[in-house]
Amino acid sequence: MSVDALFRPFSLKGLDLKNRIVMAPMTRGMATGGVPGPANAEYYRRRAVGEVGLILTEGTVIDRPASRNLPGIPFFHGPQALDGWADVAKAVHEAGGRIGPQIWHTGSTRSGDWEPDAPVESPSGLVGPGDPRGVAMTEENIADTVAAFARAAADAKNLGFDTVEVHGAHGYLIDQFFWSATNLREDAYGGETIRDRSRFAAEVMREIRKAVGPDFPLILRVSQWKQQDYTSRLANTPDEMTDWLLPLVEAGADVLHCSQRRFWEAEFPELDGAEGLNFAGWAKKLTGATTISVGSVGLSSDFMGAFAGESSKSTPLDNLTGRMERDEFDLIAVGRAMISNPDWVQRVHQGQMDKLEDFSASDLQDLV
Ligand SMILES: Cc1cc2nc3c(=O)[nH]c(=O)nc-3n(C[C@H](O)[C@H](O)[C@H](O)COP(=O)(O)O)c2cc1C
Repeated sequence: MSVDALFRPFSLKGLDLKNRIVMAPMTRGMATGGVPGPANAEYYRRRAVGEVGLILTEGTVIDRPASRNLPGIPFFHGPQALDGWADVAKAVHEAGGRIGPQIWHTGSTRSGDWEPDAPVESPSGLVGPGDPRGVAMTEENIADTVAAFARAAADAKNLGFDTVEVHGAHGYLIDQFFWSATNLREDAYGGETIRDRSRFAAEVMREIRKAVGPDFPLILRVSQWKQQDYTSRLANTPDEMTDWLLPLVEAGADVLHCSQRRFWEAEFPELDGAEGLNFAGWAKKLTGATTISVGSVGLSSDFMGAFAGESSKSTPLDNLTGRMERDEFDLIAVGRAMISNPDWVQRVHQGQMDKLEDFSASDLQDLV
């Protein structure tokens, strides 16, 4: 099996990558006081030394009350946290890597018993279908949140990051606007169609684009599935997917990071078969945007099990290489396998798949 397709360089708006492999954003919850320190910088530097094309950081939250759902999640605001992030970017650059922060607002998904110091917020005060939590956002809250996203993106650019990713997936704030089960608003941010409910995300992308200028590459992460409901879908047809994603590309997203739990699953198998295009494939075809795919690359089971202590075996990449040779999508993100193997990319390049460690849930306990 040739892995050459993964090792073609890639370039977009000055973002020059040595290969097509992206480190997926993964929350580690180990930023003391919300400030990334030397251990966090070293963790990312090791992946850059391991020749990852592009590192996307763990979700790091914007300047809104209760925008994070766990202590230990880093802030992307305030001088101390931003200084910490500048050191992360510098460490990765010195190792020859490229990096973007994933900017985030966790909406109403507060975890476990932890109480943030303000009520959690979301479009309609819900965390899932018929499941109230926290407060519904006012139009003023929404405007402030859009502005906070734009400030965070501008800060990312000013700190020297190579790109920024907006987290619009997995049932957090932006996705709570997309999802009809959590967005019951009757104002301009709600509505019957996915295009109506995309308005908040489009405003976020438009304001970010204004703040960073036309030449800075912007990534938006989206998913059909939610942590609240794996089977839920925002788009049931290609037309609905176009209505959802095209306005976001027009608003400023250069890259759509299309999150699936298993990348090989066809998005619309009823149209092009069980081996048909995946989510990133369809998103690229329908919008013309660059796309990133993700989900269980090189592993035997999907990532939700990791939170229940499940391990996952290293597996071959044959389903991936063909799709990349056909340019079904442009980049591929790798998550857990890269936690267990900071040198995952080098090993794959050198044909040493047999030397890769399996993913063990205990690998999440330390930042190495
Ligand atoms: C420990 C852990 C933390 C994660 N945190 C985030 C996150 O902060 N933001 C995000 O968009 N996805 C997050 N994810 C999802 C990953 O980015 C990725 O989509 C998922 O792990 C599937 O890739 P994999 O099968 O290669 O691990 C997380 C996954 C794991 C395992």
